[in-house]
Order: sequence, then C-alpha cells, then structure tokens
Amino acid sequence: MKSLEVNLGKLVLQNPITTASGCFGYGTEYSDFVDLDSLGAITLKSITLNQREGNPTPRIAETPSGMMNSIGLANCGIKEFIQEKLPALEHLKKVKVIANIAGHSTEENVELAEILDGQKRVDAIELNISCPNVDAGGLAFCQDMAQLKVLLNKVRAKTDKPLIVKLAANVHDIVNLAQVCEGEGADMLSLINTVTGLEVDIENRKLFFSRGYAGLSGPAIRPIALKAVYDVSRVVKLPIIGMGGIANIDDVVKFLMVGADAVSVGMMNFVEPDISQRLVGGLQGYIRAKNIGLKDLTLN
Ligand SMILES: Cc1cc2nc3c(=O)[nH]c(=O)nc-3n(C[C@H](O)[C@H](O)[C@H](O)COP(=O)(O)O)c2cc1C
Repeated sequence: MKSLEVNLGKLVLQNPITTASGCFGYGTEYSDFVDLDSLGAITLKSITLNQREGNPTPRIAETPSGMMNSIGLANCGIKEFIQEKLPALEHLKKVKVIANIAGHSTEENVELAEILDGQKRVDAIELNISCPNVDAGGLAFCQDMAQLKVLLNKVRAKTDKPLIVKLAANVHDIVNLAQVCEGEGADMLSLINTVTGLEVDIENRKLFFSRGYAGLSGPAIRPIALKAVYDVSRVVKLPIIGMGGIANIDDVVKFLMVGADAVSVGMMNFVEPDISQRLVGGLQGYIRAKNIGLKDLTLN
C-alpha cells in the first residue's frame, strides 16, 4: 500500500482526508458510519465559551447543487466540550482531532485557545474567522486587518498547538488575508468557509432566513473554493486544507492538484454519512491505479 501520510508542518496526518467543522458534529455522531480512526483528522463543530442556541428556524435551505445554512454557531460551550465531547474521542489512536473555535471577540478566542492548549486530545486548533451567520466576530475579523493582526498575535501567544486559520472566499482579497495570517504566526489555512448568499420566501414575501444572509455550501461553491486554494497557494507557503463541495474522488484530486495539502468534506457528510472513509479508500485506489504518489498530484 502506498503511503497517504501528509506533513502539514506541525501536524502529520495519516492521510489527507478530513471532515469540515459543523458537518461532522463532535465526531461520535458519525461513528456508526465511519471508522473515525481511518480518517486523517476530524474537525469538530465550532465552540464558544458559553453554550449557544444558534439562530431561529428555518436554518437550512436546499439550493441547486448545495445547501444554505444559518445555524448561527449553535454549540454546547467549552465546559461540556471538555467534560463530555473530548473524552468520547480519547480511545482513538490514529485520527487527529481539530477543535474549531469561534469566539465573538478577540478576548473570547484568546480564552478558548488558552483552555484548549491544555487539552491533550486536541491536536490542532482551527480559528474560525469566517462564519457569515453571527452578528459579532465571524466574518468581521476578515474585514479589519488591524483587528485580525491583534487577534492572531494574542491567540498565537496562548498556544503552541498547530494553529489553523479558516478563511472565507467572499472577502475583498483572500490572498492578502492569507498573507496576514502567515505573517502573524498561523501554521495552516483552511479554505473555504461557506459563501454568503440570500434566499427568499416568495409565499410570505420575506427573506427566508431570520438574519437574511446565510452560508452556501456544497458542489455549487467548489469552483470558488478551488480558485481560492489555487490563488493562495501560489503566494503563501503555509499548508492548506481545501474544502468546498467535495463530493467524490475527482474533487479530492482537483483540490490537491491546485495546491491543497489536505482536504475537508463538509455538506456531503449529510448526504452520504460514510463519504469521508470511502474517499480514503478512493484516494488509495487512485494513486495505485496511476502508479504515482500523493506528491505527484500537481498541475503540469
Ligand atoms: C450546516 C453547516 C454548518 C457549518 N458550521 C460550521 C462551523 O460551525 N464552523 C466552521 O468553521 N464552519 C462551518 N461550516 C462550514 C464548513 O465547515 C465548510 O467550510 C463549508 O461548508 C464548505 O465545505 P462544503 O461545501 O464541503 O460543505 C458549516 C457548514 C454547514 C453546511
């Protein structure tokens, strides 16, 4: 068997297939469908200091080749996360666990990073600064470079764990944003979060989601995500976890070819709950059939 191991700087994965935050619960929800230890990493649902109920319903809408969500970072809060969610992953030996934090302020993110730094089962911290579904924090961090620098500096100071920064594509200049992350001590980038969109309830002549805007994910955004990975990887040296609409092995190969070092499966977990594990086998089969290694998956 050819090795699928990937070296993401401070984080080594047994293979490049990971799951995207918010699309794989806290991991255990999928253990009936997936041998979690077969994956490269699982990224858990964004957490905040306090438990969050999230946005009022409706929070989901179907779109052609995708879905929109306005979950609003509903989560159990850091206390329950540490007392119940992390211990449930303790027995796993091979898969890396990425905790995703989404504080509404710099201070909240700093506190979350400090708490998670002390958690052995957390192999890396992903800083979500690109959620379109909240009033404070979220995408706002991507729009103010001075604030972003302060945030990254302060979070970096609190943890030696690999720090991944998750960016959105619907920003003024994602390459510049990525360069700022690189300059301020990020170890890796996750590209991309959902793309901000709008849906209309024509029966009631109002906007469908309570906050108006919501996040589009799934195959509909794949070309946008591929472009983001391609553009950023040409300028920035940090390892990139690529995501956005991955639905089959060809999609995985496309992300790796344009510059991703690993990939994340998001929305498609809701359609095919075992897709992540099947993609590990699919990738192994792909490189075996072509008689190449992972490193050969580049553009000519
Ligand atoms: C229902 C849903 C909830 C999500 N929640 C989060 C979240 O809590 N934190 C986060 O960083 N990204 C979240 N995302 C974004 C995904 O992690 C991913 O970046 C995005 O959906 C693009 O990948 P995909 O097209 O494969 O779904 C969520 C996506 C969906 C569909």
